[in-house]
Amino acid sequence: MNQTILIIDFGGQYAQLIARRVREMSVYCEIYPYKKAEQAISKLKPIGIILSGGPQSVYAPNAPSLELSVLNSGIPILGICYGAQYLAHALGGRVKPALTPEYGKTETFFKNSKLFSGVNSGVTWMSHGDYIESLPQGFKAIAHTHNCPIAAMENERNNIYAVQFHPEVVHTQDGSKILKNFVYVICGCEGDWHMEDYINTAVNDVKSTVGDGRIVLGLSGGVDSSVCAALLSKAVGKRLTCIFVDHGLMRKDEGDNVESVFKGWDINFIRVNAADRFLSKLKGVIDPEQKRKIIGAEFAAVFEEESRKVGADYLAQGTIYPDIIESGTETSAVIKSHHNVGGLPKNLRFKGVVEPLRLLFKDEVRRLGKLLGLPDSLVFRQPFPGPGLAARIIGEVTQEKADILREADAIFCFEIEKAGLSTEIHQYFAVLTSVRSVGVMGDSRTYDYLLALRGVTTEDFMTADFARIPYEVLEKVSRRIVNEVKGVNRVVYDITTKPPATIEWE
Ligand code: XMP
Repeated sequence: MNQTILIIDFGGQYAQLIARRVREMSVYCEIYPYKKAEQAISKLKPIGIILSGGPQSVYAPNAPSLELSVLNSGIPILGICYGAQYLAHALGGRVKPALTPEYGKTETFFKNSKLFSGVNSGVTWMSHGDYIESLPQGFKAIAHTHNCPIAAMENERNNIYAVQFHPEVVHTQDGSKILKNFVYVICGCEGDWHMEDYINTAVNDVKSTVGDGRIVLGLSGGVDSSVCAALLSKAVGKRLTCIFVDHGLMRKDEGDNVESVFKGWDINFIRVNAADRFLSKLKGVIDPEQKRKIIGAEFAAVFEEESRKVGADYLAQGTIYPDIIESGTETSAVIKSHHNVGGLPKNLRFKGVVEPLRLLFKDEVRRLGKLLGLPDSLVFRQPFPGPGLAARIIGEVTQEKADILREADAIFCFEIEKAGLSTEIHQYFAVLTSVRSVGVMGDSRTYDYLLALRGVTTEDFMTADFARIPYEVLEKVSRRIVNEVKGVNRVVYDITTKPPATIEWE
């Protein structure tokens, strides 16, 4: 078992970010809601605890709190923002609404402390309306700002530390160093969390769960299901069957690429070419939600038919840690709706569900994928909606429109990659608007489709900015598309941020 840091979630927006920072330091950690803190301590035997921020005031009715046994456990504790205020309040200090709330970058002055070893005074990221007015007994202030006399405090004897700012956020200058000091110097972590070891642990886990049983996995070609397949193949080889439902709405050559990667592995790989089924169900449908529902239901039907033939004992899913945290559970018993399309078959009975990635963050899944030998095209694949190109064809989906979009999208992607922009633009694709407009080509009038290009930069796909693609690149893409793709005579670039728009058009 790895040395573990427990992150107690008080409902703040940054709990996952804290966890990712800690894991980046080769230290294993898990996030638990504050109500399950005691349970988590007895299960994980953590060697350090971090209390996250949270939206409440410590004086709010039902403000999140912990059992005193957690605070008295003797395990080193670091409170962040609400976590810091909670510690001050619970241990006998006083917290009050600040006269001048601090939000954003704030100049902060540090005193000598193990927590700030090697850290210079500088900018931290604040986001608080309350502040610690007086210290609990046994504590001393170890940082202040112009407005806040206690921006951090410590009780070195009891190993309890608290910071009002957010060390996990990149805007805090030495944030990583501060977290590292807590984790390595104060908790004594040695950095024993490595992906190479994870492979062995996960493979052994799967082996002991399934015995000589057989596993079926829905492979979408996305990062999670692909890495899941690669890991399971190591554990059970030919007793794994991957079902790749090709709904005919993948990008150019994508289905063939997925097949060519997995055909070579020591597993059973089934590609179901179901394009006709999907297209006929989508005939005449223009409402985006209805399109999604139809595709989801059809996906589940095809998967069910195929997995019946396989007759596997276990269902595998590429569930990852953020899915688990967000659903508020920590068990694998629930079959979640497929994170790409619709729902999974409800009528099939399996002995159990296998989720070998359930403790990993996305960046860790990618690292694992590389270690398992998957190509970059799969490991660094951009997000792609489950309903595929149906979400990028406005209105009715037809074979003709899908073919036009595939060609135009391939040209756009090729030119972005050729211009060396493929890592700085986080997602880029073409959209077939289904609007027609008048143009002139040669000496003839045309009445063809309007194609939109979308390129965004984003940290987490929850908010996004449109990418500033150089005009020369846009010009080349536009010229090539109208010349090479029959059916398109006009190209526009989407310059909307999210919000108010979304990244996909449907
Ligand atoms: P929106 O359009 O909501 O998209 O701004 C945010 C991100 O999610 C992707 N997306 C999906 N991913 N299944 C997925 O796995 C889906 O059904 C789906 N719909 C949107 C989208 O491409 C963007 O990265």
